[in-house]
Amino acid sequence: MKLSIVIVILLSFKCNGYEFPEDFKFGVATASFQVEGAWNISGKGESIWDYITHNNPNFIHDGSNADVACDTYHKTAGDVQLLKEISVDYYRFSISWSRIFPTGHTYSPNADGIRYYNELIDELLANGITPLVTMFHWDLPQALHELGGWPNPVLAELFVDYADKLFEYFGDKVKNWITFNEPYQICDFSYSDGILAPAYKQKGIGGYLCSYTVLIAHGKTYQLYQKRYKETQNGRIGITIQGPWFEPRTDSAEDKKAAENMLQFMFGIFAHPIYIGDYPKVVREEVNRLSTEENRRRSRLIAFTPQERDLIKDSADFLGVNHYTTFICTPRNAEIQEVLPMNTDGGASCYQDDEWAAAASRWFRLVPWGFRKVLNWVKEEYNNPEVIITENGYSDLTGELRDCDRISYYNSYLTEVLNAIHEDGCNIAGYTAWSFLDNFEWVNGYREKFGLYYVDFEDDDRPRTAKMSAYVYKNIISLTQDKLTLITRPRDSNGAEQLVSFCLY
Ligand code: NOJ
Repeated sequence: MKLSIVIVILLSFKCNGYEFPEDFKFGVATASFQVEGAWNISGKGESIWDYITHNNPNFIHDGSNADVACDTYHKTAGDVQLLKEISVDYYRFSISWSRIFPTGHTYSPNADGIRYYNELIDELLANGITPLVTMFHWDLPQALHELGGWPNPVLAELFVDYADKLFEYFGDKVKNWITFNEPYQICDFSYSDGILAPAYKQKGIGGYLCSYTVLIAHGKTYQLYQKRYKETQNGRIGITIQGPWFEPRTDSAEDKKAAENMLQFMFGIFAHPIYIGDYPKVVREEVNRLSTEENRRRSRLIAFTPQERDLIKDSADFLGVNHYTTFICTPRNAEIQEVLPMNTDGGASCYQDDEWAAAASRWFRLVPWGFRKVLNWVKEEYNNPEVIITENGYSDLTGELRDCDRISYYNSYLTEVLNAIHEDGCNIAGYTAWSFLDNFEWVNGYREKFGLYYVDFEDDDRPRTAKMSAYVYKNIISLTQDKLTLITRPRDSNGAEQLVSFCLY
């Protein structure tokens, strides 16, 4: 198989194209709940996802849970060898808060949890792989949920306590931290729309309460690190935001405004306070206006005090961007069937074009040019900050090893990253494929597979098998490392189709 993959790469990436900058880094990602398993082993506490999968299995498409998942908890050495085999520079993984602090409070640490992450980090470093660690990727300790979860501002203090301990335990070895993965999904999807645990539906309220807490927690964590750890540990702290592209349906001013509002309500609401110093103007004005219209005594959006604005401003050394897909937006229109519930305060309705090729996830169609557009939007909006693409990848239902569609996806999306770097001057430092392994895809259980490695979930041992895309990704990384020209197809040629037909040949 390896030989044929080399041919695939050489055919699909043509000469005289762009290469990734010499110091550009490649990685793969996972998240604790999606892969670790060992849900109650050696003192681990329950998380909101343990709770919901056990108590409301209907919430998960296939009724499954992540009690065992990929069992990475028991497979550290073998998995690190797989990472080494595909030559990644770094591995993005998250820490399960309740594995280290079973109740979420830091006064009673669980020694086994600390041991587990120390071993993983040591094994990565021994194999020349840099850890990129997410502190929170959705698996809130259930005990903190019982205090109200993220809508309760007290959670900000508890998160900072937790982060402080992570710096203390692992900061001598971990130099790259992400505080939160996808705050919009943590907040709106979980507390406004109820499509992620804990599945609360307080539309227009829960999400903003949570966003406020998360931003305060992020800012305080950043400041704490600067004050107490930066000098000795010399690490970097960022946050990861999900950045779909929102394309106006037409060139009309109304459609353009609808699309821009979606960007501000989903992305700007988190990035703006960090890079500019407050929520975006349109978010403040619209939510305040609507709240008055609704006869509320106060705005649904929690305003920051000047001190809080200072705390949050300039609190990221890099910006993590997760990107998968694109939506088309127009002013709010009840007839439009939305593929995902979205914040409606921006007055937009968004959908996807049926003509766009579809991945397995119902919100996911392939629009490579949207990737370049969102990278450019970030560049313009925030003065070209350093961006690490912290997730990008493709889902199928089959888990097939000869995963040509996934290869084609990476080919076309990476081409847009190269265009964004070379033609547009976007400051992109790294790219992370989602995901290292097929894993527990939240409410979709094991049905949707994003892995470069296939995992047999029917086998107690959870064996992994490299898909063709794993070898392709390895070759892309190696080309860069060897400083060969990474060869990209011309923007409007049919490179992707060429590759697919080769795959099927
Ligand atoms: C983003 C999330 O961070 C990750 O957990 C999820 O699996 C992927 N999107 C794919 O849906």
